[in-house]
Amino acid sequence: MARLFKDLSTALGTAGGDSCQLGPDVVVCMTRAVRWALYSPAMMHFYEPHLGHGLKHDPFNSIVGPRPIGWVSSRSAQGVLNLAPYSFFSAFNYVPPLIGFASIGRKDSLNNIEATGEFVWNLVTRPLTEAMNKTCDAVPPEVSEFDVAGLTPTASRIVSVPRVAESPVSFECRCTQILQMQDLGGQKVDTWMVFGQVVGVHIDEGLLKDGVYDTANAQHVLRGGGPADYFSIGPEQLFKLYRPESWKRD
Ligand SMILES: Cc1cc2nc3c(=O)[nH]c(=O)nc-3n(C[C@H](O)[C@H](O)[C@H](O)COP(=O)(O)O)c2cc1C
Repeated sequence: MARLFKDLSTALGTAGGDSCQLGPDVVVCMTRAVRWALYSPAMMHFYEPHLGHGLKHDPFNSIVGPRPIGWVSSRSAQGVLNLAPYSFFSAFNYVPPLIGFASIGRKDSLNNIEATGEFVWNLVTRPLTEAMNKTCDAVPPEVSEFDVAGLTPTASRIVSVPRVAESPVSFECRCTQILQMQDLGGQKVDTWMVFGQVVGVHIDEGLLKDGVYDTANAQHVLRGGGPADYFSIGPEQLFKLYRPESWKRD
């Protein structure tokens, strides 16, 4: 027994960076052992995605989240307006401003943008969340999700695709690239990245405070994971963190 504790003591000394004594310190030793075991990699859930996650829900999009939503309006070659949410969406460059989203499968938005080269990104806010959700309905290409969700298309300034009048922020975009994704083996995946350059920006002036865009009060909605998780953000979530000194020397 003493030998066991001595070994444990040595092991803990190595793992935890400090040593512990036998005798009266055994309880301390055991407490450290439990703590060490709890934080050891043996307690991590590990999986290789191609073999399955082994959980109730795939955690992937809950972990890479919450994500902004690319609420994309587009127009078909036949002139039908389309509106759909894409949360595999982000911004990728400042100058020129580039944004992109992933179409998992060939969807109407992808087909439209391929045909016309244009789209508009619209901000989803808390009051627009239910309408946004209606626009993901799988309706035929000849039906416009603007009508399904009771939203108003309003003319853009540069592109021919309208923006969502009810949304306080929109980016008019011209498509720069459409890339079909591939896996490690070079096999094509049934997913396409659609990138666009922002050529026009609309911002509700009520969201500009002394010339600064007021993210905290714009009621942005973000997609979490699972079947139904969303997050809204407000001033309570705001905190400031400035970059290291080296950035100031640039
Ligand atoms: C919040 C939200 C996020 C979504 N994100 C994506 C996504 O990133 N990629 C995708 O292919 N589908 C996504 N979908 C599903 C599409 O919106 C749905 O398939 C829609 O019908 C596509 O419309 P479209 O065929 O008119 O382009 C999302 C749906 C919701 C509600």
